[in-house]
Amino acid sequence: MTADDRTTMALLLDLEPVVETNLNRHLELAKEWFPHEYIPWTQGTDFDGILNGEAWAPEQSKLSEVARTSLIVNLLTEDNLPSYHHEIATMFGRDGAWGHWVHRWTAEEGRHGIAIRDYLLTTRAVDPIALERARMTHMSTGFENDHDASILHSIAYVAFQELATRVSHRNTGKISEDPICEQMLTLIALDQNLHMVFYRNLLHAAFELSPDLTTRAVTDVVRTFQMPGHGIENFSRKSVQIAMAGVYDLRIHHDEVLMPVLRKLGVLDRTGLSGDGEKARQELADHLAELDRQATRFSERREAIRARAAKHQA
Ligand SMILES: [Fe+2]
Repeated sequence: MTADDRTTMALLLDLEPVVETNLNRHLELAKEWFPHEYIPWTQGTDFDGILNGEAWAPEQSKLSEVARTSLIVNLLTEDNLPSYHHEIATMFGRDGAWGHWVHRWTAEEGRHGIAIRDYLLTTRAVDPIALERARMTHMSTGFENDHDASILHSIAYVAFQELATRVSHRNTGKISEDPICEQMLTLIALDQNLHMVFYRNLLHAAFELSPDLTTRAVTDVVRTFQMPGHGIENFSRKSVQIAMAGVYDLRIHHDEVLMPVLRKLGVLDRTGLSGDGEKARQELADHLAELDRQATRFSERREAIRARAAKHQA
């Protein structure tokens, strides 16, 4: 067993009571909900193929192109659940409170993909063949935790990632202009929020146990953060489209994802850090300042592009 393995084992054991408390808290707060209630089944019709129904055509969709892109990205992200399960089950284990959480979390994430896919197919909002091919490609690539050697990095990543997906689902609902779709995505966003709180509370406990190492982990994760769906084909092009629509952009990432978690944990104001912990805290502050500048530049560029487009249309 290496020193790193021993550190991981010790952390898992030290954090287990915190996992148990927060798992119980989660089970009390989580409200049961049913994906099938949010699907307008009467809008559904047979597709071509063995049922000889109607083939999909773009004009059948009532959603805007960007709402479709955003829903597809969110769905493909959820589709990679087997890989996420593998990553956290390998890291956290399948025993005791950790295992109970891993399985419960997986079951809750599972309903997100079920709900979104049923909605998209029933309302004919997406090309079902393109969607299936994209799912095959995406899942064949799988997902790998960027920080699979460190439990602290892994906890920090999921705390930010759950909030990022919460915001992404909620804002996708807003631009869908379909009240049913918006209600469904609001419930998914609520699940993601509870997941974020669970991991954020764990991160809080990690700061108490090991402030310097946890500050380093948070800094590394913030500096290298990628959305969980970054492996989706043409992700860059899709994420620009999503950012241009204001569903998820740098300003949102900085103000509504990174800062709320960091503020709640008091990471930037932390005193008493030593050595690399203090160095990491300063690196984090510098990185956030730069991200803030980039976010402003992006928003200004977007405004200019929108103004030009509006002028062109007039
Ligand atoms: Fe989640």
